[in-house]
Amino acid sequence: MDKPHIVTCTAPVNIAVIKYWGKRNEELILPINSSLSVTLHQDQLKTTTTVATSRTFEEDRIWLNGKEEDVSHPRIQSCLREIRRLARKRRNDGDPGLDSATLSHKVHICSVNNFPTAAGLASSAAGFACLVYTLARVFGVEGELSVIARQGSGSACRSMYGGFVQWIMGLQDDGKDSIAQQVEPETHWPELRILVLVASAARKSVGSTSGMQTSVHSSCLLKHRADSVVSGRMVEMTEAIRKKDFPAFAELTMKDSNQFHATCLDTYPPIFYLNSVSQQVINLVHRYNQHYGETRVAYSFDAGPNAVIFTLQKHVSEFVQVVQHFFPPETKKETFVKGLAFNGVSLSDELKQGIGLEPMPKGINYIISTKAGPGPCIIEDPTQHLLTSDGRPKKTV
Ligand code: DP6
Repeated sequence: MDKPHIVTCTAPVNIAVIKYWGKRNEELILPINSSLSVTLHQDQLKTTTTVATSRTFEEDRIWLNGKEEDVSHPRIQSCLREIRRLARKRRNDGDPGLDSATLSHKVHICSVNNFPTAAGLASSAAGFACLVYTLARVFGVEGELSVIARQGSGSACRSMYGGFVQWIMGLQDDGKDSIAQQVEPETHWPELRILVLVASAARKSVGSTSGMQTSVHSSCLLKHRADSVVSGRMVEMTEAIRKKDFPAFAELTMKDSNQFHATCLDTYPPIFYLNSVSQQVINLVHRYNQHYGETRVAYSFDAGPNAVIFTLQKHVSEFVQVVQHFFPPETKKETFVKGLAFNGVSLSDELKQGIGLEPMPKGINYIISTKAGPGPCIIEDPTQHLLTSDGRPKKTV
């Protein structure tokens, strides 16, 4: 009986504070501007992927969140092809550690997220980062893996590292210099906290891939952003992170999110990712900061209405209470906040009046409380594999 070779890894979600929007090459996924993100902690948000290879497998297969999907999807094929190409190159270069038989074997892939897809959180970054990282372990490939993850989904290249990560756009036509690099590790800014405010009724809107295509063709604001705005912001953002300068980091994060959504409105026909809940969050953050006369909280939104809030540990409990007050939840208070714990505080009437917004009941479903975290990891415990020894998804998946 041929025992399959099985490897399981996990990879994180990332949130861009300088946004990627627009490609100069669709197939290689080369962006029109550099971007920078914070990797979120895998205790709260992660993808787990198991890859098995065996001589007995007849075809490549993939199961995503419990359902078999089409493995011939071009982006999955790009990742598989590139990993196999690098593995072959290593073997031809005479790497003795490589089991050359494995190279010709088919793979079975099984992947799950620990957060609901319905939450509307971008899962393709963690998903492709995890796929590439796990395949690389299976085939004994090392080196610049972010170039391969990028070809699964642009933002996935940034999920190949923990902490604060930049994706350098690169200039070459072959994309070899369009890579992700860690700017600072996850331990650099331990006071930084992240709250994902999951908006209710987060229906699926225009996907990133097609949305940015329309923007590239129609928005002159996007062109201006890529030509004249982002490179300066990359320098400023890196500096703000290095110095742990929260007000500078926060202001730039909000301005960049706003400019991204302005390019969406400048797209023709326009794209709307923000809804009335998002707008209320934006007003809430600005009024909260105004009340204290300093920038204590920032927001960022991707291609959907969920807000990602950045703040410092000392302000988390109060701001969560503020969110709970202005978005009275449907659920019990205990289930409203998931993830990292904090102490409860009561809000002063002065603060509530200072903010002075009309509460919006049930606007936010729940909050995920997290922080910056590490990059992809290998799981050594074989009981954690998502595939059985005959390469089928376990019943629990
Ligand atoms: C708004 O990486 O999902 O989240 O490269 O087409 O797969 P593709 O797009 P994707 O776009 C992410 C866009 C964003 C901003 C960001 O993460 O930088």
